[in-house]
Amino acid sequence: MSFPDDHHRIAGAGPRRVLVAGATGRFGGITDLLLARGHAVRAATRDPAGPATARLAALGADLVRADFEDPASLAAAARGVDAVFASGTAHKAGPDGEQRHGQNLADALVTAGAPRLVFVSGAGADSRTGLPLFDAKWAIEQRISELRLPATVIAPVYLMENLFNPWNLAALRAGVLPCPVPPTLPLQQVATQDILALAVLAIERPDVLAGERIEIASDAPTAEAAAAELSGLLGREFTPRHPGADVPPGLAALFSWLERHPSPVDTSALHGRFPGVGWHRFGDWARQQRARLAEASGTAPVSASPPPRPVRFGGAGGCSR
Ligand SMILES: NC(=O)c1ccc[n+]([C@@H]2O[C@H](COP(=O)([O-])OP(=O)(O)OC[C@H]3O[C@@H](n4cnc5c(N)ncnc54)[C@H](OP(=O)(O)O)[C@@H]3O)[C@@H](O)[C@H]2O)c1
Repeated sequence: MSFPDDHHRIAGAGPRRVLVAGATGRFGGITDLLLARGHAVRAATRDPAGPATARLAALGADLVRADFEDPASLAAAARGVDAVFASGTAHKAGPDGEQRHGQNLADALVTAGAPRLVFVSGAGADSRTGLPLFDAKWAIEQRISELRLPATVIAPVYLMENLFNPWNLAALRAGVLPCPVPPTLPLQQVATQDILALAVLAIERPDVLAGERIEIASDAPTAEAAAAELSGLLGREFTPRHPGADVPPGLAALFSWLERHPSPVDTSALHGRFPGVGWHRFGDWARQQRARLAEASGTAPVSASPPPRPVRFGGAGGCSR
């Protein structure tokens, strides 16, 4: 494995050789951001020759094989990097699998010489909820801290991109906006792009977020407001609908917890501290995702979405302290 020489590095910008674990997953877009900012990226996947990796290779990432079930492969992938970006695998492996994978990663990073870790967990994971999904994330965070790894934990609330989860697509196609809480309740949500922008800041500026666990949210729309936004954007009526008891027990427990804790983050303090992240309002996010939303809902094609907003921070400008 090799990284570009020093002339690719950004002066004074902190760690620059980054392993992205789960680079083909939902947070794999961090590879694009890091490469665009001049960092060298090792993009890890179980199948470096697989179809999902051609795009990453074309961008300039160095593809490596790593399996969260195989600590030795994780340690080999992480050897020699300055920082590691990772999240869980709950949707693919369930809470038990996610816990095992996250703990394998933490153990492997010790073997690899303890590079800095930026780990995406979940808001509320530290709250002893009894929810398996949250408990798994907390167990991983605990292992990271027991091993004294230099780490930043980013804990996002509900993702705006959950709209694209496979189990929501039938509803979207039927003109229904599925919502995990009652339609009139504001629910804090986060745009993936904002998670990644903060993660880039944590990688570039370890002095800013070292040792922190930070819960984040972008906006807090009601589903009624979100449905109105989508209706205007796609030129088709969307009606918000809460599934009530009509979901599997695990999801019902999560939705019930969200209903009791819809807004855990002090967003004015968070956004004031990190103005460079460019926190998305739901409407901004939806406009950027217009083509994907149209496709997911089976709505007639619309003109191209505007490109994603660039990460704006540079040097010390990404945070206000
Ligand atoms: N806050 C929210 O609303 C929210 C919403 C959705 C998800 N999440 C969280 O986001 C995290 C990631 O989402 P996700 O679970 O859908 O995963 P994902 O990011 O889509 O995929 C995980 C990645 O891990 C890689 N991987 C390596 N070894 C693996 C193994 N042994 N088993 C499975 N994957 C392996 C896979 O890449 P290869 O196949 O290329 O190896 C895959 O790309 C989860 O922790 C989930 O809970 C949060």
